[in-house]
Amino acid sequence: MAAKKTFPAAKAPEALSEKEAKAELTRLSLTLAEHDRRYYQEDAPSVSDAEYDALKRRSAAIEARFPHLVGLDSPSLRVGAKPAERFEKVRHARPMLSLDNAFSEEDVAEFLARIRRFLNLADAEALEIAAEPKIDGLSASLRYENGELSVGATRGDGTEGENVTANLKTVEGVPHRLQTAHPPAVFEVRGEVYFPADRFAELNARQAAEGKEPYANPRNAAAGSLRQLDAAITASRKLRFFAYAWGEASDLPSDTQTGVVKALKGWGFDINPLMTVTHGLDGLMDYYRDIEERRAGLGYDIDGVVYKVNRLDLQQRLGFVSRSPRWAIAHKFPAEKATTELLGIDIQVGRTGVLTPVARLKPVTVGGVVVTNATLHNEDEIARKDVRIGDTVILQRAGDVIPQILGVVEEKRPAGAAPFAFPRVCPACGSHAVREEGEVATRCTGGLICPAQRSERLKHFVSRNAFDIEGLGAKHIDAFLADGLIETPSDIFRLEERYGAGEKAIAAREGWGAQSAAKLFEAIASRRTIALHRFIFALGIRHVGETTAKQLARAYGSGAAFIAAMRRIAEGDAAALADLDAIDQIGGTVAEAIADFFGEAHNTDEVDRLLAVLTIEDAEQPASDSPVAGKTVVFTGSLEKMTRNEAKARAEGLGAKVAGSVSAKTDLVVAGPGAGSKLKEAEKHGVRVIDEDAWLKLIEGL
Ligand code: IVH
Repeated sequence: MAAKKTFPAAKAPEALSEKEAKAELTRLSLTLAEHDRRYYQEDAPSVSDAEYDALKRRSAAIEARFPHLVGLDSPSLRVGAKPAERFEKVRHARPMLSLDNAFSEEDVAEFLARIRRFLNLADAEALEIAAEPKIDGLSASLRYENGELSVGATRGDGTEGENVTANLKTVEGVPHRLQTAHPPAVFEVRGEVYFPADRFAELNARQAAEGKEPYANPRNAAAGSLRQLDAAITASRKLRFFAYAWGEASDLPSDTQTGVVKALKGWGFDINPLMTVTHGLDGLMDYYRDIEERRAGLGYDIDGVVYKVNRLDLQQRLGFVSRSPRWAIAHKFPAEKATTELLGIDIQVGRTGVLTPVARLKPVTVGGVVVTNATLHNEDEIARKDVRIGDTVILQRAGDVIPQILGVVEEKRPAGAAPFAFPRVCPACGSHAVREEGEVATRCTGGLICPAQRSERLKHFVSRNAFDIEGLGAKHIDAFLADGLIETPSDIFRLEERYGAGEKAIAAREGWGAQSAAKLFEAIASRRTIALHRFIFALGIRHVGETTAKQLARAYGSGAAFIAAMRRIAEGDAAALADLDAIDQIGGTVAEAIADFFGEAHNTDEVDRLLAVLTIEDAEQPASDSPVAGKTVVFTGSLEKMTRNEAKARAEGLGAKVAGSVSAKTDLVVAGPGAGSKLKEAEKHGVRVIDEDAWLKLIEGL
């Protein structure tokens, strides 16, 4: 967006007035606090580390220039947010791998058979398998050097994790020093950090009491807790750790999997008490069923069991396939299911106007999480499953996946439950909602006024190829919207009357100053006169992109003619619709979308409001006597005397059609230096190729 250029944040700190500096510091402090919250508490950062660091540096630079503005809320003073950088990255000495999954008895049989084949084991030869629960937490690596914990890291991408040593030291089951008189020189212990169920319940009760969002599940809570900058917070969360594997090790205390893990227990680690050694398919399946039965009573979340070849020499021989060991597999439990009552179906309207049905459910616990709603996707999905309000529905939730409605228990359907009638009206704005042929989505047609779509539409309206209002960026749009300064596009041109003192009032807003406010009003004023094609494009009619907008502008010539024709189409005038359909390149889908748009009174009302404040310029009519009128032209390579956009606009002004690729239909290719494949295509199709100078000569004087 062009707006960035005049945004006050771009000013050098030295150029800021004190007032601007103060406003910006406040804004930066709030922004950084929000990023910290997302990163540390939700584990869902919305900016890259680099962007975050840039904001922090900016804040520090402004503070350095205006030290008296350093307030108690300054990011530089934030308690617990001390390090300038976030967690340091650590490269794992040995990569932290993942496991292949088995979902059925056949998968497990195949796992055993593959191992036997690989090792060339006779049927009679025993193959011991270590089995243990698969903990649903997050894995961590703890490096001990001469018995002292030196580095503790998260898994990260498996190759590189984050250094969270201080936090891992607060986790129960993690010794700071190996409890042995003769520790190995180097030993990396690997295992799972998890949130015990009772502590998770306490944490969420506390979150709720403090008015904070509860964590979705113990695993997210464990991840969030481990990545606190303040280790005291991690400590207060009372996480635990089970050791089950290792990375680099200068010595191994045993020659079996279970032997090493038991030695880890001797060194001070918690290990899972349900670890055992078994063999054969029946042995593994018995173990699996046994653990599945105990699952609910364990006091921590598990999502399956893990089988590992017990002998380390065999593990060594088996090795790895890509990122997982051939000697181990995770046997996952099936997704948990539950039934509950469908209390209602809400329709949510997305940013782009799509209506999504959401099931409102009587709260039910599935897979350790209380579920109160689930998506029903679209109209067809509801019909296919014949989901009706009042029905008892079957829910499924697997891991992180959003709960799904699998179907309905028909026997429990209450008498009189009627099939769901999908709305034909947008619940957010009352405009009519349509479903295009071949599409599953139902969309609101009231784009210009629909509150659900406001932000997107306004951003489109001011964007570079539409009204191109400099100084009105996405952030400003959202801030203006939030404060009720603007609601629809025409409000932008009424800012002055809607917002009291207008320019002065804007200048006083956070993040604004006299200069930026003046520039904004200048930019708005200069756009009160607008080219027809920009106006049409800015309306955000579905399927009407820039090219179509230009074609429409050229075909109708003036704003008045365009609007009059659109009104006739909306009133059902067949001749007007036929005219629209007849425009080159405009097909049925586009015509229908245009008819839908102008058929919505909310939109035409807004168009009227726009027309009242704008002057729309007539479209440039292509010179019919130009040598390129009606010709298809392709520009390729770099142009030296004009920009690509200029060249395109000029050619279109002369009646040419500018295409992006060369085909048999191309009439002329204008090639600058560096032209490549398009030139070859032109040769192939025998298309005439000229250079930039020849092109300029061709259109000279026109
Ligand atoms: S063994 C080389 N054992 O599951 C394989 N992993 O899906 C090392 N996990 O990234 C992993 N419980 O975070 C192993 N008892 C267990 C486990 C376990 C949970 C996790 C671990 C791993 C993931 C793979």
